[in-house]
Amino acid sequence: MSFVVAIDGPAGAGKSSVAKRLAHRLSVRYLDTGAIYRAIAFDLDRKGIPPDDTADLRGALRGISIELREGGVLLNGEDVSAAIRTPHVDGIVSAYSALGCVREALLDLQRGQRQYGSLVVEGRDVGSVVFPDAPLKFFMTASPEARARRRCLELQRRGELVPFEDVLSQIRVRDRFDSTRAIAPLTRPEDAVLVDTSEMTEDEVLEYLERRVRDVLEPEGREEAQ
Ligand code: DC
Repeated sequence: MSFVVAIDGPAGAGKSSVAKRLAHRLSVRYLDTGAIYRAIAFDLDRKGIPPDDTADLRGALRGISIELREGGVLLNGEDVSAAIRTPHVDGIVSAYSALGCVREALLDLQRGQRQYGSLVVEGRDVGSVVFPDAPLKFFMTASPEARARRRCLELQRRGELVPFEDVLSQIRVRDRFDSTRAIAPLTRPEDAVLVDTSEMTEDEVLEYLERRVRDVLEPEGREEAQ
């Protein structure tokens, strides 16, 4: 039986690393929907098309093809995996991803990934809009300060020194934008399990999610083992 595990939550809650490792442990594919939005924003920005809902933008969307590979994103055949992870793209992606025409254009691409089998999917509206029937939904969050600390460390590892206060204020702006946009805002689906990762290590979060998933997927095996 194939299944979808949907993991939503704000930037920096630790979704990506945990979702990737969870997919690996469950031997299923990992889908990073944020990477798709980043690729679109990167492309439109590079072409000088601003995030206004205009005919130009709609036309440009029709010419974009995105392919998801294990660990990478191809934009019209070009590997943009690194280019979409810059502070510049962090700053522009929310405005593009708030547009109805962008979200609509990406819905089929995301849902289409289901044809290749089970998925662990990560994003902002995965449990609420993209895969509302997913049997397992998590909403991962953490305090803005904890998220900013993690983001600073991640940037440091990549050799980019950005002041903590700048990162924190960018996170707050992005949170506000992502949760107040009119279409598919970041919200916790009622049936999602809330996981506050502020005081948890990555391993603890992973163990918790894996246990919850296995409880749902293998209930009989668990009862017998007890
Ligand atoms: O998870 P991330 O930081 O890579 O996501 C980048 C942006 O994409 C984020 O600001 C909001 C948007 N996004 C979205 O609107 N819906 C999703 N399912 C995933 C990401």
